[in-house]
Amino acid sequence: MTHPTFTILGIAGSLRHESYNRALLRAAARLTPPGAAVEIFERLGEIPPYNDDVRLRGMPAPVAELWQAIADADAVLVVTPEYNYGVPGVLKNALDWVSRPPAETPLRHKPVAIMGASTGNLGTVRAQIALRQTFQFIESYVLLKPEVLVFRAAERFDDAGELTDETTRELVAQQLDALVAWARRFSG
Ligand code: FNR
Repeated sequence: MTHPTFTILGIAGSLRHESYNRALLRAAARLTPPGAAVEIFERLGEIPPYNDDVRLRGMPAPVAELWQAIADADAVLVVTPEYNYGVPGVLKNALDWVSRPPAETPLRHKPVAIMGASTGNLGTVRAQIALRQTFQFIESYVLLKPEVLVFRAAERFDDAGELTDETTRELVAQQLDALVAWARRFSG
């Protein structure tokens, strides 16, 4: 096997063990194109509430780890649930941490793809739109298409959390292909 040369940092915005979004990210990690690999950030639940005073005294360790992982990655994949038509607080909070200061954030000009799973019929569409606005402020290069909106998630994963729906698997693979091509546009 060739050593991956393209690294994607994956962040799922749910903390629960049986999360569909964490399962979707694990599936994505197995559907990368040749030469690419997804590394999953596992410390979202350790990130404290954003506080500018704390930041100015020094980034907490899990924030520093996320910052470095983003800096080291060629692209970022954010897998978001939708909470009350928005982005879950834990995910937004983590992005707020790594967005400051704006001139230094590793997310600036970073290629980003968004996907998400919900149990409802609209598959996180509103959360994804909100996340795009956040990345607009940060000046990340968010992939335009394909969108991955995993609606009625309970029908697409088995009891072990495996993504079994073939159409969704193909779409996830297509988005990862597109993300690699998208990132190469910006890498000079
Ligand atoms: C939800 N859920 C939900 N679903 C949706 O499609 N639109 C929404 O606005 C909301 N709002 C919402 C708020 C809160 C606080 C919770 C806990 C849940 C349902 C949501 O899609 C479902 O719980 C998913 O399973 C959450 O993602 P994970 O944890 O499975 O990754």
